[in-house]
Amino acid sequence: MSVSVAPLHAYLGAKVSGVDASAPPDDATLATLWRAINKHSVLVLHNQSLTDAQLKAFAARFGDLEIGRAALQPGKRRLDIPEIGDISNLDVDNRIRAREDRRRLDMLGNRLWHTDASYMPVPVVLGMLFAVRVPPGSALGGGETEFADMRAAYDALADDMKTLCEPLVVEHDIFWSRGQIGFTEFPPGEREKYPPSQQRLVRRHPGSKRKTLYLSAHASHIVGWPVADGRLLLHDLNAHATQRQFVYSHKWAEGDLVIWDNRCTMHRGRPHEEGAPRDLRRATTLDVGSTLEEAAD
Ligand code: OGA
Ligand code: MN
Repeated sequence: MSVSVAPLHAYLGAKVSGVDASAPPDDATLATLWRAINKHSVLVLHNQSLTDAQLKAFAARFGDLEIGRAALQPGKRRLDIPEIGDISNLDVDNRIRAREDRRRLDMLGNRLWHTDASYMPVPVVLGMLFAVRVPPGSALGGGETEFADMRAAYDALADDMKTLCEPLVVEHDIFWSRGQIGFTEFPPGEREKYPPSQQRLVRRHPGSKRKTLYLSAHASHIVGWPVADGRLLLHDLNAHATQRQFVYSHKWAEGDLVIWDNRCTMHRGRPHEEGAPRDLRRATTLDVGSTLEEAAD
């Protein structure tokens, strides 16, 4: 079956048909998917049937895989494969986590606009989320995941703002993003394990050569500026970049696989009925160098 790619939105998001992700893609399919990622930033593949091992094998064709912060914590995990992130509201026994559960509160940080792992010195490239169980719609929302296009947002900045942003370096810190929602209960030793990292504010996206804003809830302040000034500029840039015209909202169906490029998008999870299970599995590919070594011009 041939692969087809159909845009879902004016800027980002495309539906891909003709790919069965339960087997690692051959070279031609891999190249087609990379071309589609470079153009559309977010790909949606419906009706997939994937074990965690199959998701890992599919994702590993795109790069080395990250082992996330939660999988590195001691104690029993619900999922066996450390490269598969547990993006669910379930505990090791598949029971819905209590409202005050520490891990649940930590994960609520995903509801803020962010790009994954920007607090790491070498951040990540692709995120791949596979939907195993999806909650029903509710007054709060249906647990959608939203994606915002940081290349379109950069293009829409005024020229003098582009010039101002271009040389800036931003400090990203997981403790800052979690602190914004009042979550401070990190296990002992985490502060030392995840010190802040510096990232360029403007990057050139390698696959498209387009410039992009590298923003995230983890972005704390601008290096060399008074903290308040930096925070206020980041606040304005976030408001600009997440205007509705730049956002694709993905309404999950079970069997959906969504692939996004963390280098040129932000994303956030939306609220949902907390009493219903929501079970997504995530694989993430690592980048190869610091953004500070990239030339933005
Ligand atoms: C993630 C994430 C949002 C969601 O998995 O990286 O931010 O909707 N998820 O669960
Ligand atoms: Mn995320």
